Amino acid sequence: MTTKILIIGACGQIGTELTTKLRSLYGNENVIASDIRKLNNDIVNNGIFEVVNALDYNQIEHLIEQYQITDVYLMAALLSATAEKNPAFAWDLNMNSLFHVLNLAKAKKIKKIFWPSSIAVFGPTTPRENTAQYTIMEPTTVYGISKQTGERWCDYYHQQYGVDVRSIRYPGLISWTTEPGGGTTDYAVDIYHKALENGSYECFLSEDTKLPMMYMDDAIRATIEIMQADADAVTIRSSYNLAGISFTPKEIAEEIKKHLPDFTITYKPDFRQKIADSWPASIDDSAARADWGWAHRFEMDSMTEVMLENLKK
Ligand code: SER
Repeated sequence: MTTKILIIGACGQIGTELTTKLRSLYGNENVIASDIRKLNNDIVNNGIFEVVNALDYNQIEHLIEQYQITDVYLMAALLSATAEKNPAFAWDLNMNSLFHVLNLAKAKKIKKIFWPSSIAVFGPTTPRENTAQYTIMEPTTVYGISKQTGERWCDYYHQQYGVDVRSIRYPGLISWTTEPGGGTTDYAVDIYHKALENGSYECFLSEDTKLPMMYMDDAIRATIEIMQADADAVTIRSSYNLAGISFTPKEIAEEIKKHLPDFTITYKPDFRQKIADSWPASIDDSAARADWGWAHRFEMDSMTEVMLENLKK
């Protein structure tokens, strides 16, 4: 049976690159991109695109029937910083969109789901270095609470109803094609833009705030690899820890200076500092490595080269 994919939230930071990659792998006719708005971009103009509200069950069900969708990638969500400003809506969007696709899989209308979780599932009581797959999880952000709850429901739907749902706890993701929206790790993207535009950057986190990060190419590859893995290999049905590189704002600034010697950075922590302080500094992802062969490729130096090179254009 042909794989037919629906991406919900296709125009976001991850969705944009994921959609492009899936189109090249599965063919334009087998990948349906959707988002809440019709923007004028490659995702809308270079393939099939539908306007979809991730909270509208009937609309999603209709699309799934119309295109005979087998796999859904649910990328629509409010991220950590934005969610703190609108907790009720964040909870509604992050949880109910997930229930919609889980229920569609339970009703056997789709075969496979990808749903992203995050390092935000951890909290201030979690051991911060080399954070284990199974550990204390007391998230303090609305976003983290929604992701942790979502993980529990994914596992529940898998155990109770045999739903084939697969998930990764993404670290902060860094890319040059689409800007991130409303996360605590966004500084690590913005810093490259501002370094090239102004030669300086004011960081909203303190210089020693170490967080787990990853270059987008690695994250997209992980997403596709877990979706293509044999169902039996995916033994964890809540969500997998996934690690790439961990660094502080000071370290990334030093790396940028190797290319732009005059670059300067200042620090003015805001409300996002508290969120960052509640998250791990580094992640143990040995389960993903053992179960479906995960290995990251990009380090801070190779990522910085690609970011600056592409943003310069
Ligand atoms: N990058 C996300 C955020 O900062 C974490 O999943 O909200």
